[in-house]
Amino acid sequence: MSSSPATTELAPPGVLGLIGSTPLVEITRIDTGVCRLFVKLESQNPTGSIKDRIALAMIEAAERDGRLQPGGTIIEATAGNTGLGLALVARAKGYKIILVIPDKMAQEKVFHLKALGADCRITRSDVGKGHPEYYQDIAARLATEIPGSFYVNQFCNPDNPTAHERSTGPEIFEQMGGEVDAVVCGVGSGGTLSGLGRYFAKAAPDCEMVLADPEGSILAPYINTGKMGEAGSWAVEGIGEDFVPDICDLSLARRAYAISDRESFQVGRELLLKEGLLGGSSSGTLMAAALRYCRAQTTPKRVVTFLCDSGNKYLSKMYNDFWMVEQGFLDRPRHDDLRDVISRRHDAGEVVTVGPEDTLLTAFKRMRLADISQVPVLGPQGEVQGILDESDVLLRVHNAPERYRDAVRTAMTDKIQTVTPNASLQDLMEIFDRGFVAIVCDGGQFLGLITRTDLLAYLRRKMG
Ligand SMILES: Cc1ncc(COP(=O)(O)O)c(C=O)c1O
Repeated sequence: MSSSPATTELAPPGVLGLIGSTPLVEITRIDTGVCRLFVKLESQNPTGSIKDRIALAMIEAAERDGRLQPGGTIIEATAGNTGLGLALVARAKGYKIILVIPDKMAQEKVFHLKALGADCRITRSDVGKGHPEYYQDIAARLATEIPGSFYVNQFCNPDNPTAHERSTGPEIFEQMGGEVDAVVCGVGSGGTLSGLGRYFAKAAPDCEMVLADPEGSILAPYINTGKMGEAGSWAVEGIGEDFVPDICDLSLARRAYAISDRESFQVGRELLLKEGLLGGSSSGTLMAAALRYCRAQTTPKRVVTFLCDSGNKYLSKMYNDFWMVEQGFLDRPRHDDLRDVISRRHDAGEVVTVGPEDTLLTAFKRMRLADISQVPVLGPQGEVQGILDESDVLLRVHNAPERYRDAVRTAMTDKIQTVTPNASLQDLMEIFDRGFVAIVCDGGQFLGLITRTDLLAYLRRKMG
């Protein structure tokens, strides 16, 4: 396996020397047809993504030609991973860094960025190019206002694809013993596709570049039909575009697969279950496209794809069953009654509850841990005795914090609103209007709670 550093002849000191030289692993437990499929674990880079490579390359190129001077400020518009790579390199080299981030990005990434000392400016993700609040336009504007700043602009920066042409491509070629028939990758900025496409056009001219794209992105339809359609929306992070970035040479991709969010998340989860590989949401998209490609072949091929980032950043999303069900990506058995509206079912052990003799502190800690604002209070037979919400606790402790030690029964509301599974949505609305949550019981058996949020999420799933 290669151990060459990502961009320079001599490995940079410290953590920056760990960028690149990522391992390659073969898929062994998922059906790859007549092909052999290998995954390059870009999640092993120091901040957990492929973007560490371009961060180092773009900053070092700017240092070399004087666009970035000591004491300067690095500015970038980023969906997260590039920001993490840049923040790491900026920190290691002593630069300030400002990142403009669209608000749909995973909280975990933003926490990571802030902990790395980055100045994060969160902006709207629902506006496009040309809008004053579009993240790339804000970054460009800041770069004109702040003296000594270097606007990285990964979408137009030629050092981005060059990083892949010089490091990722040669590593793959060496790890594959010089035999690579296809590379499946996604496009965010187009750096990976363009850099690898250029490298393999020389190193292995028969190697096919294959695009894995989220449904809703304009890129796959453009490659497959030559037509530039209207962009939709998608939940997978880091790939898919509503425009073709300057550095992205789509002519290098011979074919493209559009993959739904649902398939991406399901294949990503399968990758963890069967192969033990914890990838981010785009890893599911890339893997799904790679599997379609592999299974469509009639002659054996050696195919490479990527885990572009680590699934650690998405544990509360695609690896969280509640999120998957709420978003409509995971199905549960349907009952065609109010049971379908309950997000957390008591019979499946999913409901956080307290007992009447538990302390208010215990109840409060449970609510915080599960990020909920009320808990049902269950008696010894599992019967609902009441409900406790944050205002009940507050009322009790606001001028006597020691009352956190009091029993839940002293503060709970016992006026509860119980419905059977065959009650109507109108019944729910009336309960909400009176300021309560609905408690669903069937023959005395507690099934779960329904709040306004649960009903909203249910109606959104029904929208299709
Ligand atoms: C999370 C993530 N970021 C970025 C990329 C590639 O981005 P770019 O086109 O900017 O090289 C991928 C590609 O699969 C990805 O999965």
